[in-house]
Amino acid sequence: MSHHIDLDELSANERYKLLTALVIPRPIAWVTTADLEGKTNAAPYSFFNLFGQNPAVIILGLEQKADGTAKDTENNINLLNEFVVNLVSSNILRNMVDTAATYAPGESEPDLLGLSLTSSKKVKPPRLTDAPVAIECERIMSLSLSSERSILLGRAVGVFAKEGLIDSTTLQVDWANDYPVARLFADQYAEISRIRRYSIPRPKRAHHKKR
Ligand SMILES: Cc1cc2nc3c(=O)[nH]c(=O)nc-3n(C[C@H](O)[C@H](O)[C@H](O)COP(=O)(O)O)c2cc1C
Repeated sequence: MSHHIDLDELSANERYKLLTALVIPRPIAWVTTADLEGKTNAAPYSFFNLFGQNPAVIILGLEQKADGTAKDTENNINLLNEFVVNLVSSNILRNMVDTAATYAPGESEPDLLGLSLTSSKKVKPPRLTDAPVAIECERIMSLSLSSERSILLGRAVGVFAKEGLIDSTTLQVDWANDYPVARLFADQYAEISRIRRYSIPRPKRAHHKKR
């Protein structure tokens, strides 16, 4: 017997709790953006993924703050149309979590927390120096889905990676000790370097079960 839950009968908070515990794991974008004065903002977003390669679409799910105003990340991307997705390895996980605290607009999390920044190449916001991978992105469009939620589509235009992580000839990736950490739910994370892995080659032709 399976159990059905009508999501339309739940409050938004209950839906959040339930769905983020079911759709796991989620990758984490530690997003750096810049404001008009050039101050760098950093904040994590786990409503995040890659949705294709032509264009190379990256999507962020941005929730408005309790007072109905946009978070600094969304405001900054709307101002400058650019952002950087830094990926988070376990050695910088705590720093990432620290940047999720509430900081006033114009307060720079990297400055206040002493996180080192390095200039990007194709976009204005800098990247976090200690992130193993940083993806430079340009905003394509934003979709406002409700008073609390918008979705932002960006195009990935450049990648920085720690020396040795990407083979520049074959483009093969060797994460070594820098695998990104995944978010499970609430404040739970998972290290994908420790999971059991196996490969299942895709069949070349469709199989049909005999009846
Ligand atoms: C691991 C993690 C993932 C998060 N994911 C999201 C998210 O997908 N969308 C969102 O609106 N807030 C998310 N948050 C909360 C924001 O990081 C938090 O509201 C932050 O203060 C926003 O900062 P900003 O105003 O500088 O953009 C997440 C927090 C953590 C710790």
